[in-house]
Amino acid sequence: MTTANLLAELKKTRKAKNLSNLDLISVENITLDDLELILAVARVFKKFITDGAKKCDLLKGKTIVNFFNENSTRTRSSFELAGKHLGADVINLAGSASSGKKGETLGDSARTLDALNADILIIRDANSGAAFQLSSLVRASVVNAGDGWHEHPTQALLELLTLREKFGNKKLTYLFVGDALHSRVFGSQVRLYQKLGFELRLAAPQTLIPKGVENWGVKVFYKIEDALPGCDAIHAIRLQTERAAGKFVATGREYSKNYCLNLPRVALAKKDAVILHAGPVIREFDLRTEVLESPNCLVQQMVENGLPIRMAVEWLLATNKTKKKQPW
Ligand code: CP
Repeated sequence: MTTANLLAELKKTRKAKNLSNLDLISVENITLDDLELILAVARVFKKFITDGAKKCDLLKGKTIVNFFNENSTRTRSSFELAGKHLGADVINLAGSASSGKKGETLGDSARTLDALNADILIIRDANSGAAFQLSSLVRASVVNAGDGWHEHPTQALLELLTLREKFGNKKLTYLFVGDALHSRVFGSQVRLYQKLGFELRLAAPQTLIPKGVENWGVKVFYKIEDALPGCDAIHAIRLQTERAAGKFVATGREYSKNYCLNLPRVALAKKDAVILHAGPVIREFDLRTEVLESPNCLVQQMVENGLPIRMAVEWLLATNKTKKKQPW
């Protein structure tokens, strides 16, 4: 597909629509129309990539900053590649190498990047609310690439694209297993899947269940074997040890014995049930290798779908003619 054909396909798909927000902070700010627009545009980019093309110059002259104050393999790489595939100038700034280490506040670092005319600022930070705070301080569109325990919206979007490829628009019975309390991925997924009318279940020890989770329509189970029958999709959530989650279980070994996904457990779900994990996977602790490498495990497909989803988000935000007001 040439760039001209790609642009024509994108315009046909977009139908002159824009996302309803100039930032992407939370799934709460994504309407159902926004959701279908992102997925439709991502499918066009996915075809462009899978046809063998990589580069186009749709965002030539735009600047995208990846400002990552926490470790990342998947999210940072795919946001960076997305920007580069779109022809934007991409700057990667790690918190450990930024002037934050000299005492500059996160807001002042963001204002500095904004003064250099960044069009999109992608932020990952250990503090919940960091992306929201920055969104009111800068002219650039802010994309939340994971903030503390709060949300990681593009991770939920790439998973939904993956589920749609397998199940179409079916309302799924979907089971979360593990550390929902500290998981920002859970924070975005639960908001997204509630909007879509999924039947939601969570299997976890009592100490790792967020307060009020029933208000999102989630049915809680303490025993994974009770939760699995009838499930279409099972998402294993990593124990978020970097957020001290290890203190919320008696021992890691006991937690893993009770909640690690192995083949006999997966066999309790529906025959074609899929296995999901946001990564990084802790082999033999969250998932047995036999499950990770089984045909119904969609972990690699999720990673692949991260690229077109992030291309879609960056393209839709950077080409929105409405701009944010000067905040200062
Ligand atoms: N899923 C996810 O956010 O992975 P990374 O921490 O590697 O970006």
